[in-house]
Amino acid sequence: MGRQRKRVVTGEAPPPPRKDDKPSAFHRKEKKKKVDIGKVFINISIGLCIFSLIWFFYALYMRSSLAKRVVTLHPAAPVLDANSSSAKVSPELLRNENPESQVGMMWMRQFTDFDINLRHTCEQGDRLQSYGWLMHDGTNFGVQEIRDNDFTLTTEFVKRMGGGHGGDWTWRITAKQHSSSPHAPVLSLMFYAAADTQGSLEAHVEEKTRLASITGSSEELGNFKITFRKPVTGEQSSAKYASYNYLKTLTPGLEKLTDIVKHSLNRRFVYSPSSGEKRHYIGVDVYRPPHHPNQQKPHDPRKESDFVVHQVTVQTPFQVEVLFESGSFSNRPNQLVGPILTQELDRRKAEFNAKFENTFRLESKGFNQANIKFAQAALSNMLGGMGYFYGQSVVQSVYNEYPLLYPEGALYTAVPSRSFFPRGFLWDEGFHQLLLSKWDPQVTQEAIAHWIDLMNIEGWIPREQILGDEARSKVPGEFIVQRNENANPPTLFLALQGLIGQLSANSDEKTFTFLQRLFPKLKTWFDWYNTTQTGPKPNSYRWRGRDKDTNLFLNPKTLTSGLDDYPRASHPSVDERHVDLHCWMAMSSGIMASVARLLGEPYEEYELTHNILSDNNLLDELHWSEQLRSYSDYGNHTQAVSLQQEKVYVPPGQPRHQFPVARLVRYVRKAPKLQFVNALGYVSLFPFLLHILQPDSSKLEQIFQDMRDPNKLWTPYGLRSLSKSDPLYMMRNTEHDAPYWRGAIWINVNYLAVRALHHYSTTEGPYQEKAAALYKELRTNIVNNVFKQYVETGYIWEQYNDSTGRGQGSHPFTGWSALTVLIMGEHY
Ligand SMILES: *[C@@H]1O[C@H](CO)[C@@H](O)[C@H](O)[C@H]1NC(C)=O
Ligand SMILES: *[C@@H]1O[C@H](CO)[C@@H](O)[C@H](O)[C@H]1NC(C)=O
Ligand SMILES: *[C@@H]1O[C@H](CO)[C@@H](O)[C@H](O)[C@H]1NC(C)=O
Ligand SMILES: *[C@@H]1O[C@H](CO)[C@@H](O)[C@H](O)[C@H]1NC(C)=O
Repeated sequence: MGRQRKRVVTGEAPPPPRKDDKPSAFHRKEKKKKVDIGKVFINISIGLCIFSLIWFFYALYMRSSLAKRVVTLHPAAPVLDANSSSAKVSPELLRNENPESQVGMMWMRQFTDFDINLRHTCEQGDRLQSYGWLMHDGTNFGVQEIRDNDFTLTTEFVKRMGGGHGGDWTWRITAKQHSSSPHAPVLSLMFYAAADTQGSLEAHVEEKTRLASITGSSEELGNFKITFRKPVTGEQSSAKYASYNYLKTLTPGLEKLTDIVKHSLNRRFVYSPSSGEKRHYIGVDVYRPPHHPNQQKPHDPRKESDFVVHQVTVQTPFQVEVLFESGSFSNRPNQLVGPILTQELDRRKAEFNAKFENTFRLESKGFNQANIKFAQAALSNMLGGMGYFYGQSVVQSVYNEYPLLYPEGALYTAVPSRSFFPRGFLWDEGFHQLLLSKWDPQVTQEAIAHWIDLMNIEGWIPREQILGDEARSKVPGEFIVQRNENANPPTLFLALQGLIGQLSANSDEKTFTFLQRLFPKLKTWFDWYNTTQTGPKPNSYRWRGRDKDTNLFLNPKTLTSGLDDYPRASHPSVDERHVDLHCWMAMSSGIMASVARLLGEPYEEYELTHNILSDNNLLDELHWSEQLRSYSDYGNHTQAVSLQQEKVYVPPGQPRHQFPVARLVRYVRKAPKLQFVNALGYVSLFPFLLHILQPDSSKLEQIFQDMRDPNKLWTPYGLRSLSKSDPLYMMRNTEHDAPYWRGAIWINVNYLAVRALHHYSTTEGPYQEKAAALYKELRTNIVNNVFKQYVETGYIWEQYNDSTGRGQGSHPFTGWSALTVLIMGEHY
């Protein structure tokens, strides 16, 4: 299932060329010159000619400098100080779902006679029963569980600080068969290390085929030693059956690691320890490149190998430990293995549990242990999925004929889904940080700083961060280019709101300094939205970047709004105004005013803008539709549209198959006109969702009614994205595009709804009690369903079905769906 909202559209038609932007004046004047004949006129013409030349070069200069603006970073000092990315060195390097990691693990079943089932990155297609972090504190400790068909692998790590390169860490893998499994499976774990270009690796082999350790060095890790301890059974006695293989080779690139291992595998017929029969045993052997078996890889004379694999094959149950020791850690008290590791793990687990309860208070709110384990997993997967990405985006402005490479940059960010969307998304990130800031405000500050430092001089931040070649290889080409006229909801302001709250509560110098460094860029960012996304009327706003080929879509998408195919005006035009964007701007200007006030900076203009945009009368004037009795977008619109087979004319007597297959195109039965769009759903709720409505606004009553109406937005699992009574409810947008934000339940907006109900239930007003009742019901519905689906399927999902509650879309999706934790903890 595609995550369309994450894709990029080509934007709108470029604005008409600007006067100073074209050399056309030059040509016009040249023609004139030929008409003039007298000497005086020649002089004038020479003058004109020189003037024109100057004009021409000036225009060229202007054009090239305009062309460069999109890739010119904001001039203010970086928010991040130069040292902050030292956190790069972390056990995160040992995440097996990141194929680019330099140290990692793959695994497979032995003696199965099935196809080789080598697993590495935990992809959705692997059909694992479940996998994910059960606990993760963000940096130093984590417990992951991978449930395969008849066994479960638990991987635990602990990091111990020391020395100048991130210290030591140990990984412990515990394998257990499921009680349903007839035999104790024999598994191979393959631990690998790959050197970066400057690095080196040396393999230390004992007993012919057992790789006992690797020593090496790399830029990031310094000198290090990786020790592969012998497997033991649960009781620390040696495992009954263990065999070893290793591979030492040169790799063309980190993204090729899985392929190399696959192509090095060699089958032998040996006695299986579980069945006693001869079966296939598969081991790493010699790497033979796939397509050109005779072609020698160009040999780097300085290196014997830069990719080493240790394969250990053991019958379950067993436990193995891999120890990483940093060369610069000189005074370690002992080795982090065996009973010492067990003790350390126990200590960290207890700490994690205590901090979790202290932060979210689920136990004291009456949740049971299963609920709490689920919530811990949701948070841990968001924390454990955080990563550093490095590279360049591909961007384009109207002044560029071709896309350009954005300056290189690092991004520390959470991701929506480790396997499916392992990238940064601007609109998701604000939601992610709402949760993470409660756990560790430092993480949030660092992530916000990274994002804001990606801003260009115009105040634009590319909304989808597809950094580097490897990341780009996973995204369809047409969606890679990021256009600088396109916005995305400024959700980072939501996360900032929390930080300001903390700062007002207790003056914290670090946060203050952080906001101070952030402020110059925040101003530009706000200004960018406030100037580039303006609407046709004063104080109205319009998303840019809607789909252009209007006849190919039932309703042209608005990917930039984050709500992709949510119905908007049927005919995109400059006359549109969007109520969700209006509310985002009202909220953002308010937060800008608070930040400015806190920092002692001029705040009056932000406050004024905030007051104007939150004026409920203005909001009603721009966006209240009397017909729908709801807030609404406005634009050139008709409801009388449908998708129909395109008529393909085939002349009589001609073979049908020589003509294009009829596709679905949009037919417009009634001409569009300027009017309210009248689609009831998430967009109509924004004045409520972002607390723009006054507590005594009579509109709240109507909104609560629509929310609670099962024929409109209410379901036993949360609020659906589009009213069941809307003509586009659950309609496909093209024959290939299934409905996305046209009915399904999304947790990010449900979180905002619960939060808003909480706000209106705790603020004096005539609808306070109604809000309180709805709050209780909605909160219970969401929490119960997300939890139930997790228990039944093993995953947290991208969205939930509004008629069955079932999880759907990509999974595991521990991006904003993990906000369920805040709903449980009532932490808003
Ligand atoms: C960064 O690290 C260097 C060397 O360790 C130190 O001299 C400098 O003060 C640090 N800068 C900041 C902003 O912490
Ligand atoms: C936002 O834009 C409006 C004009 O569209 C302007 O009047 C207002 O001052 C701007 N707000 C800020 C804070 O710059
Ligand atoms: C609305 O769209 C139609 C079809 O593109 C166009 O002909 C018409 O001029 C538009 N109306 C307005 C008011 O922009
Ligand atoms: C929700 O489930 C129903 C019933 O299984 C199905 O018809 C519908 O297509 C599902 N919705 C989505 C968005 O897939």
